Amino acid sequence: MVELKNVSKTFGKKEARVEALRGIDLSIREGELVAIMGKSGSGKSTLLNILGGMMSMDNGEYWYDGKTVNFRSQRELTKFRRNEVGFVVQYFALADDLNIFQNVALPLKYQGYSRKKIKEMVMEALRELEIEDKAKAYPSELSGGQQQRAAIARAVVKQPRLLLADEPTGNLDEATGEAVQEIFHKLNKNGKTIIIVTHDAKVAKHCERIIHLKDGMVSDDGLGRDAYEEEVFV
Ligand SMILES: Nc1ncnc2c1ncn2[C@@H]1O[C@H](COP(=O)(O)OP(=O)(O)O)[C@@H](O)[C@H]1O
Ligand SMILES: [Mg+2]
Repeated sequence: MVELKNVSKTFGKKEARVEALRGIDLSIREGELVAIMGKSGSGKSTLLNILGGMMSMDNGEYWYDGKTVNFRSQRELTKFRRNEVGFVVQYFALADDLNIFQNVALPLKYQGYSRKKIKEMVMEALRELEIEDKAKAYPSELSGGQQQRAAIARAVVKQPRLLLADEPTGNLDEATGEAVQEIFHKLNKNGKTIIIVTHDAKVAKHCERIIHLKDGMVSDDGLGRDAYEEEVFV
């Protein structure tokens, strides 16, 4: 479903030049649950932003469903982002002055859905994330875990096939993080393709596959998962 070929991305110029991604090859099948791990600065967020059509690449190709994603066309890119991708970040990014229903409904605005359809879609997302009773609450009235569930509900309300999450448990305590991880599992079991960037070995352990980034490259050092955990987490 997702394939990157020799993707590179550089930021800055001259002394400030950073090669964030250096020749990434990657392919992810529909229905996979994949973790991307690597030290801070290894290019994880850059990779995820490119996968989500939120950032262009300098070189390489992005194939989605057998078609190239055209980064030169703003219109096509917006369509791709809107229709195919849901994005979850570490700090929830909920609007404080909107209640949970309104937050989750945001991606549906200006899409020509009827009020009734919007209500249906939002309530279904809230049900899936098990926070339907919080529809009228404001973000400040929710726990961290509930806020993250609301943010995930917002990411899946349009039923995107691809869900991208950048350190989704990074701001949660361990138990809450585990609960959120279970949510990703459930969504994956229901057919969603999910890519999670995480520092958390526990989160990664529950994914089918770990892609390890090192200095902007997919690390192919032959280390298994256990060796990697020892290397980074001891
Ligand atoms: N917008 C940007 N401008 C300049 N440098 C950036 C920008 N985004 C990322 N970088 C640099 O690119 C490298 C990879 O960053 P990032 O993808 O955020 O890594 P990670 O998410 O693994 O911590 C880092 O050296 C970072 O400083
Ligand atoms: Mg990052």
